[in-house]
Amino acid sequence: YFSGQKNTPLLGKKVIVTAGPTREAVDPVRFFTNHSTGKMGYAVAEAARDLGADVTLISGPVNLEPPAGVNVINVESAKDMFDAVIESYDGADIVVKTAAVADYRPKRIHDSKMKKQDGELSLELERTIDILKTLGEQKAHQFLIGFAAETNDVTTYAKRKLESKNADMIVANNVKQAGAGFGGDTNIITVFHRDGTTREYDLMSKRDAAVHILKEAIERMGDKA
Ligand code: CTP
Ligand code: CA
Repeated sequence: YFSGQKNTPLLGKKVIVTAGPTREAVDPVRFFTNHSTGKMGYAVAEAARDLGADVTLISGPVNLEPPAGVNVINVESAKDMFDAVIESYDGADIVVKTAAVADYRPKRIHDSKMKKQDGELSLELERTIDILKTLGEQKAHQFLIGFAAETNDVTTYAKRKLESKNADMIVANNVKQAGAGFGGDTNIITVFHRDGTTREYDLMSKRDAAVHILKEAIERMGDKA
């Protein structure tokens, strides 16, 4: 996969990549979000394209130029992202859920700007839909790759996510580790497979990490390939 010659193992395959944060509106001028910049997801989309795939990149709001030749769908909320993913799920061969999806959203979106008042404010939050979990429940031929950005107990949480979301692979990183945090151009990933195999990688560019992730998926797709 790193040789100069053209290597397109994903030719004819449809790959969906979700990237970036989501935005959950509070009122017309405010929203909840997170530190995701979309760099990892955009790197996966680009690497998948270079490996020959037909790529759909479903992106939350980010400041990145989408890779050329990739079909981009811009979304804001977790619900928007879910709708976009489900729309193309049947035809997909690989789904890479890099996005940092909000877990909660305001229960009520105010129609007009909320005015400040004396004293404290409480907002009621409700759970968003777990996109990856839903994809796992509806999985047929697709190879599902989830991400797990953790601050502690990475292995425990990654393995738990692999099971609970019925994913085929989880790519985990410790965002507290230097070189693996939000926004950088590098990552330190560990890949967890369903057969219990795990593979730890050293610090590398997000681009190289993306190629390794896809390569591990291709190797394990088996009948799904
Ligand atoms: N994910 C998703 N939909 C959500 C939340 C998460 O599809 N509403 C996906 C992410 O895109 C990622 C994986 O699930 O691929 C793991 O996300 P993460 O936030 O690490 O896990 P959660 O299940 O949300 O658990 P927690 O945040 O409590 O660790
Ligand atoms: Ca979460």
